[in-house]
Amino acid sequence: MDVVQTVSFALVKYLTVCSKIVSTDKNTDELDAKTFLNEYNSTAEVVWNAYTEASWKYNTDINEANKQLQKNLEMSAHTLKYGQKARLYDTTDFQDGSVKRTIKKLSDIERAALPSAELKEYNTLLSNMETKYSVAEVCRDNGTCHPLDPDLQKIMAESRDYDELLFAWKGWRDSAGKVLRQDYKRYVELANKAATLNGHSDNGAFWRSLYETPTFEEDLETLWKELEPLYQNVHAYVRRALYKKYGSKHINLKGPIPAHLLGNMWAQTWSGIMDLAMPYPHATQVDATPAMVAQGWNATRMFQESDRFFTSLGLLPMPKEFWEKSMLEKPSDGRQVVCHASAWDFYNRKDFRIKQCTVVTMDDLITVHHEMGHVQYFLQYKDQPVSFRDGANPGFHEAIGDVLALSVSTPKHLQSIGLLDKVETNHESDINFLMSMALDKIAFLPFGYLMDQWRWKVFDGRIPSTEYNKEWWNLRMKYQGLCPPVTRTEDDFDPGAKFHIPANVPYVRYFVSFIIQFQFHKALCDAAKHVGPLHTCDIYKSKEAGKLMGDVMKLGFSKPWPEAMTMITGQPKMSAQPLMQYFQPLIQWLEAENNKNKDIRGWPDYDWKPSTSSEIKSSKVDFLGMSVDGSAAMAGQWILLVLGVVLLVATILLAYRYRKSNKHEKSLSLLELKQKEIRDT
Ligand SMILES: *[C@@H]1O[C@H](CO)[C@@H](O)[C@H](O)[C@H]1NC(C)=O
Ligand SMILES: *[C@@H]1O[C@H](CO)[C@@H](O)[C@H](O)[C@H]1NC(C)=O
Ligand SMILES: [Zn+2]
Repeated sequence: MDVVQTVSFALVKYLTVCSKIVSTDKNTDELDAKTFLNEYNSTAEVVWNAYTEASWKYNTDINEANKQLQKNLEMSAHTLKYGQKARLYDTTDFQDGSVKRTIKKLSDIERAALPSAELKEYNTLLSNMETKYSVAEVCRDNGTCHPLDPDLQKIMAESRDYDELLFAWKGWRDSAGKVLRQDYKRYVELANKAATLNGHSDNGAFWRSLYETPTFEEDLETLWKELEPLYQNVHAYVRRALYKKYGSKHINLKGPIPAHLLGNMWAQTWSGIMDLAMPYPHATQVDATPAMVAQGWNATRMFQESDRFFTSLGLLPMPKEFWEKSMLEKPSDGRQVVCHASAWDFYNRKDFRIKQCTVVTMDDLITVHHEMGHVQYFLQYKDQPVSFRDGANPGFHEAIGDVLALSVSTPKHLQSIGLLDKVETNHESDINFLMSMALDKIAFLPFGYLMDQWRWKVFDGRIPSTEYNKEWWNLRMKYQGLCPPVTRTEDDFDPGAKFHIPANVPYVRYFVSFIIQFQFHKALCDAAKHVGPLHTCDIYKSKEAGKLMGDVMKLGFSKPWPEAMTMITGQPKMSAQPLMQYFQPLIQWLEAENNKNKDIRGWPDYDWKPSTSSEIKSSKVDFLGMSVDGSAAMAGQWILLVLGVVLLVATILLAYRYRKSNKHEKSLSLLELKQKEIRDT
């Protein structure tokens, strides 16, 4: 569902290295710089278009003949040539801010900085990783094999059989994750080398630089800390719902949740198990899937519906080429394709496409809007120079379609397009609706945050290649409160079983998007003169809302994102407040419900493991979810014992110090302590 991919390769943002070049070589002629940039722009359009066409061809028909790594090298050669020229300008006294900004951007040449043998190796590696992921399948004993799209995704969302879910979950990691481990290690080396050649400390620092925010990491941590209690309430509520379904053998009410039970292959969004978590089964149901199927909706219809919403806001319709050349369904002619949904800008100002293996479900209708948001952005900024054909920051690009989907998802809107027949306005129906939204929007937050926590640490060396999987699960535990349903080892590579890791797509953009889309939603609802609670707002047909979005999209990357944020919301910062406001009725309901059930927030029994009938016995011992030798486990147990004593003393001290505070806060303090321990063990 998450998606990609303003095919943003050569682009990069600012850089300090160019200022180190000897000043006598520097060109200070601004008119000359403008001519240079015009030439860059017209040649880049041609080279990037050729690359994108070749890449599209391969993505929609995976085979050796289509690989066309040559186009990739041509693009890098172009980036290198113009990057070197750009670095010769001293822009200090230039008048035109855009010229300065473009020169700075061109000066970071990303992978084109690699020596040619390593550049070829890096391109091949990236292509191989994405291909291995995209062609992976899980086979049964009887010979039937399942691709991720749609088979395994469907099993994860619809099966309620513990072992069947485990089969799909483990099978996917065995076939798509493991095989990438060695490739990934080399990828990290090469990505880091390219980043350092461009003056960054490592590739993670390069990725973060795209946000042009010196306090970026602290800002995200502050936002997460504001939202964590809300996540823990959703987690506790869902854990109890799963307990009712699967029982105490598989669910511990004080422990982490087994990662395969949440309705999604990566437990990143949980709306797949809405049926288990429905607060009021007799009030309005919010799943439009049955109606879509019954009415014979198809992929084209879903995209037409989305197009209608965009144009109702006065935004741009999809051009003819879009309808002719997009791949909106999985081909049935035997071609293998990269199914992961993505939106494509071909850099010729008229060709824009989506590639999606669309399934007729409500979930995919949301993804359709998400992808259409990318294409709308492409259309709006198509007359900017290529360097500025990008989001204000990567999170903006991800947020546009989701903002529209927030309106489309409201029961009132679904009813207006014939997808829900019974819509009541009462508290119980509101809570049902907000729960379904929370299972996507709130459940996602820790996942969106931890993906790049892991990669930032891998890139800067805090996670060595010998601990890829262990540290992955430490983060899954720390942020999401999830545990693996079966033992994981360092032979496994579970991060690799998520598209964006092999595909080299940064992920924190989705965390940013999930925060700012609620800021945008609130601002657009104000512009649309909405009255009533925020979660009932539908901006359909509001030209005022559409204009706000269109004006910001037209800017592309030409201005730093806080300016774009100010244009929409009247202030320059990311804020969690609109999200909290949107979910306010549910926040209160969850707090009361969890208190009523005396449910602990968090997962103090962090080392509990679900029992599994089918786990294979071996000489290895299971220790903290990792398989290790018996002697190592013994040593580990001694360390744990000592830590346990330290913890106990600390707990007593804490209990003493905080004896006046309430129960809930106490259990959180204890939890934080424990989580620090598991990170360091
Ligand atoms: C293999 O098993 C699956 C699930 O039990 C079943 O759906 C499928 O039809 C079987 N395939 C064959 C070839 O027997
Ligand atoms: C899909 O739906 C659209 C609109 O309802 C219809 O015009 C089109 O023929 C359908 N396409 C297929 C392949 O059934
Ligand atoms: Zn996207």
